[in-house]
Amino acid sequence: PEAITVQELANRMAEKGADLVKALFNMGMMVTVNQTIDQDTAELLVEEFGHNITRVSASDVDINTSEDSDPEETLRPRPPVVTIMGHVDHGKTSLLDALRGTDVVKGEAGGITQHIGAYQITTKAKDKITFLDTPGHAAFSEMRARGANVTDIVILVVAADDGIMPQTIEAINHTKAAGVPMIVAINKCDKPEANPQKVRERLLEHDIMVEAMSGEVQDVELSAKTGAGIDKLLEAIALQAELLELKARPDRDAEATVIEAQLDKGRGPVATVLVTRGTLKRGDNFVVGTQSGRVRALVDHKGQQLKEAGPSMPVEVLGLSGVPSAGDSFTVVENEQRAREVAEYRQEMATEKRTALAPTNFDTMFSSLS
Ligand code: GTP
Ligand code: MG
Repeated sequence: PEAITVQELANRMAEKGADLVKALFNMGMMVTVNQTIDQDTAELLVEEFGHNITRVSASDVDINTSEDSDPEETLRPRPPVVTIMGHVDHGKTSLLDALRGTDVVKGEAGGITQHIGAYQITTKAKDKITFLDTPGHAAFSEMRARGANVTDIVILVVAADDGIMPQTIEAINHTKAAGVPMIVAINKCDKPEANPQKVRERLLEHDIMVEAMSGEVQDVELSAKTGAGIDKLLEAIALQAELLELKARPDRDAEATVIEAQLDKGRGPVATVLVTRGTLKRGDNFVVGTQSGRVRALVDHKGQQLKEAGPSMPVEVLGLSGVPSAGDSFTVVENEQRAREVAEYRQEMATEKRTALAPTNFDTMFSSLS
């Protein structure tokens, strides 16, 4: 891997060399500005500095661990990551169900999806596809916006008996903002009052021209209830995925994104992550947001233990120091000490930011009130 001197890196980042030395010291490394650091260390450093800047000005949605790309010859095809979006009750969960051939609707409280779930299926044609389920409520649109950033393809579910609704438009906007191709799934076509043609026409008002209207966006009529059209949808996904030529390097330390995380009574903090490149293995040390850990177990959506998980694979990770946030980046580092140091450093930075943003004394507090 490439090496770079601290001063060179500082110049490129438009930061002071001394500040980088200090940050490195806090991460447990004693170096001078003229010494070289390896690529992984440089990446973490860039992220630390990037983190602070974006935290003040914007959400940390777009923070990526590293901007560098793997050499072309190391890349291998990877499965597409597909997010299902759409208005409440238009059948997102039912569609996922139909796609998985199992029923999760019954298991949900009140039939409303509470979390983003992630699953990978293998189709009859032996294609692997990763699906992300998203909550249907407007309050969770932030999470949905985040979901689109790890997404290669969006399936927009529109119920043919209800048509374009507010959250349909929201989903269209999120998809456009993310620059992700869309497939329109016109659902509930088994219902007598279904009007798929009206859905296609109304989509034109939002600049979505589907194939049936001589446009380029694939549209599929289906019923999540009867299963009609599900095969066509899988074909449409395979076609779109082929056009995208999705690739990632599998033989390197893993990077992943947190899809959801919670404190499990029996298992402790658990995060569902989506591997974006590399292969995540049991025993790997990692940093995730302001938490760290060592992979104690990897579990797939069927509850099976895995030894490793490659690109586009969603897995539950056990062995975290605490609960990270959805959208946090997950990075494998070389050892446990390093993982802890980076996480501690991030925690300090986060605390510093909060303190800096809070009113410093009563004068400023009251002057802002008057
Ligand atoms: P939220 O997660 O609450 O936003 O809903 P959702 O979009 O996941 O919808 P869900 O899959 O929970 O379906 C809502 C209702 O529509 C349920 O009662 C389903 O049984 C019904 N439904 C879903 N798909 C179909 C379909 O193709 N045909 C018919 N007739 N009913 C459907
Ligand atoms: Mg649902």
